[in-house]
Amino acid sequence: MKQESETHRPPQKDDPKEKTDNSANFCRGFYRRTNMSLSHSELDHLTNIAIEAAQLGGSILTDYAKKGFEIHKKSQINLVTEADLASEKTIIGIINRTFPSHQILAEEEGLQTQDQSPYKWIIDPLDGTTNFAHGFPMYNVSIGVEYEGDVHVGVVLDPTRNELFVAQKGKGAWLNNTPIHVSATPKLGDALLVTGFAYDVHTVADNNLKEFCAFSLRARGMRRTGTAAIDLCYVACGRFDGFWELKLNPWDTAAGTLIVEEAGGKVTNYTGKPFSIYGQDIIASNGMIHHEMVRVLEDMRAD
Ligand code: IPD
Ligand code: CA
Ligand code: CA
Repeated sequence: MKQESETHRPPQKDDPKEKTDNSANFCRGFYRRTNMSLSHSELDHLTNIAIEAAQLGGSILTDYAKKGFEIHKKSQINLVTEADLASEKTIIGIINRTFPSHQILAEEEGLQTQDQSPYKWIIDPLDGTTNFAHGFPMYNVSIGVEYEGDVHVGVVLDPTRNELFVAQKGKGAWLNNTPIHVSATPKLGDALLVTGFAYDVHTVADNNLKEFCAFSLRARGMRRTGTAAIDLCYVACGRFDGFWELKLNPWDTAAGTLIVEEAGGKVTNYTGKPFSIYGQDIIASNGMIHHEMVRVLEDMRAD
C-alpha cells in the first residue's frame, strides 16, 4: 500500500520530469540512416533484451506495490512514484550495458541521444501510475525499440497478471508466446471500446468528455483502464474492439501500436491518416469498426 507521506510541491527545476521536453520534435530526435535492414538474429536479440528489461522493471513494481512507496505530484493529478523512477533506472541500466551506443527516450529521464544512433529505445517504466498509486492492480512496463524511425520491437508486461505481450515488425504478435489476433466484431454497435484522459482533463475544453459521451451512446460498452499500453494490447488480443485517445506520448504508444498492427489491427490518427507515435491523436481498432470510429470523432470534433 502507498505511504501516507504524499507531498504536493510545485514543479522543481531539478525534477526529472521538468528536465523532460515532451514536444514531438524533441522526442523524435535524429538518427543516421544505414539503409540496412535488421537481421532475424538482431531482431531476436533486441526482443530478448527488451523482455529481460521489462521483467526486471515489472518485478521492481510488484516489490514496491507490496512494501509501499513515496508519491510526488508532477502536476495537480499527474503523479510519479519511487517505483516509476526505480523501474526506469534499472531498465536504462540494462540497455546502456548491452547497447551503449543506442539512443533512449524514457518518460522520466527524457531523451539520451548517442551519436545519432539509428536505434532508439522508448520506455514507459510504469504505465498506469495513478492506478499503481491507489493500489488498483492494472499497470505495466512498456518498451518499444525503434530502428531508423520505425518501431521494430514492442514489449508490454503486465506483472500483476503475468501477461507478456510481444511483437516484432513483420513477424506477428504474441501473448505469453501464443499468437494473438484482433477481434472480428463487425460494427460499432457491438463493440467494447476503451479510452483514456490526459492529465489536463480538468483545465482544457478539448478533454475527450464529449467524445466519451458520443461513443457511450453508440457502442455496446465503454471501459477506462488507466493504462494506454494495456488498452492497446487488449485491442490486439480481441478483449477490446477499439481504442482512442488524445495527447498520449511516444512511451505510451510505441510498443502497443506495433502489437496492434502485428495482431492484424489498424492504427491511425483521428482522421484515418497514418499514425505517428510523436503525434497527438490515436485510434486503434480491429479494422472493421475503424471507419465508424473515425466518423464519430470527425463529427464530434467538427463543431
Ligand atoms: C497514462 C496512462 C493513461 C492515459 C494517460 C497516460 P502514465 O500514463 O496510460 O491510461 O490515459 O494519458 O499518461 O502517466 O500512467 O504513465
Ligand atoms: Ca504512460
Ligand atoms: Ca509512466
